[in-house]
Amino acid sequence: MANDVMQKITSLAKRRGFVFQGSEIYGGLANTWDYGPLGARMLQNIRNLWWEQFVDQSDNTYPVESGIIKSPKVWEASGHTESFADPLVECKKCHHRFRDDHVKGDKCPDCSGELTEARQFNMMFKTFVGVVEEKANTVYLRPETAQGMFVNFKNILTTERPTLPFGVAQIGKAFRNEITPGNFIFRTLEFEQMEIEYFVQPENWEESFEEWKKLMWQWLVGLGVNEKKMKWRAHKKDELSHYSKRTEDIEFEFPWGWGELYGLAYRGDFDLKNHSEKSGEDLQYEDPKTSKRFFPHVVEPTFGLNRTLLTLLVDAYSEDKERKVLKLSPKVAPYKVAVFPLVANKNDIVRKAREIHKVLSSEFAAAWDDRGNIGKRYFAQDEIGTPWCITVDHQTLEDDQVTIRDRDTAKQERVAVDKLSDWFHNKLSLFSFENGLNK
Ligand code: GAP
Repeated sequence: MANDVMQKITSLAKRRGFVFQGSEIYGGLANTWDYGPLGARMLQNIRNLWWEQFVDQSDNTYPVESGIIKSPKVWEASGHTESFADPLVECKKCHHRFRDDHVKGDKCPDCSGELTEARQFNMMFKTFVGVVEEKANTVYLRPETAQGMFVNFKNILTTERPTLPFGVAQIGKAFRNEITPGNFIFRTLEFEQMEIEYFVQPENWEESFEEWKKLMWQWLVGLGVNEKKMKWRAHKKDELSHYSKRTEDIEFEFPWGWGELYGLAYRGDFDLKNHSEKSGEDLQYEDPKTSKRFFPHVVEPTFGLNRTLLTLLVDAYSEDKERKVLKLSPKVAPYKVAVFPLVANKNDIVRKAREIHKVLSSEFAAAWDDRGNIGKRYFAQDEIGTPWCITVDHQTLEDDQVTIRDRDTAKQERVAVDKLSDWFHNKLSLFSFENGLNK
């Protein structure tokens, strides 16, 4: 059943250009994926909404864009060189590796061979700077964007002069040498994180943690995710990352079961303190009122971009006898509207439809389709989640009105061409975060 649903979503994603297998023409590379025209649009929509929501609309959040390759000293100080590891066992016969905690029993799941003792396997990707591949030149691709914010903490203090509490935000790629094959784009070698390091007075961390729990939940509801499929799960002591004193994940009910979507971690002063000690730079904050110097504490909400996309696809997928529909919120849908000339061989209708498409495209992502019959075009747009379709017909040339058809209800209405922009702005405003965190 779970396989069946995932199979349908994966195949729709490929067929319609959301997600392709990575390096496909060479047989693929496990756990890597590429995003096609519709996937790229959706990712961009999610990034933009996140930026708008957590950076632009915040008066105390500062964005940065830091490098993927950093001094290896960063990862020594952050604890990743030593602790960012999974316990792995290896089959003595076929040499396949598995995460120790994912293997039931003591035999290889692939060939029933004998397994080795578990060993720690660091998940950071290693590469070399310069021409000589030796230890002194080793660098790592960042496994989280977070450290780019900690190592720039002093730069933010001097350039922005912020006062606590304040956030530093970043969207960017992270890389992990994941061993367990991940369900579609759920767990991949390369992915994007949208993270905030929220610096607070040490005594205020719990209050801030609760506040972020609310904001993270509201964000997902605002994207249209079904709340019944979301829950918070607190990490047990033995699950906590090396830097965390408390972590809770938002989990989503994927077709194969509940899985981590986002994490919220209380990192205390672990990172700033370690970077201060190891770099010799004083990364303390000076309270402007008391002149007291101290390391702020950090609450870190982290949002996986690719898992957000997967969640939206899974949650939006529906089908009946007639059609497959992605019931995506218009906010995240790759196209807000599609424009069709009723017939493709009537020059004046096509010209009019092109004009409308051009005007709308300057404001909204607008698709164009003039192939096949109208019914087929509607279904093709339903399948990629386009909320509204506009048809330009003979009548349009006389009364300057078009037919708008709604994806979810299939209802149609006539709207004047010069009112189209307002019509769409009104509709889209119903889905804004401020307007009741729509479904
Ligand atoms: N800075 C904290 C941090 O990196 P994490 O729980 O390891 O925390 C944060 O990762 C988020 O990044 C996860 O909740 C998930 O959304 C996403 N993520 C982590 N590993 C991933 C992977 N291999 N593939 C896709 N997304 C991943």
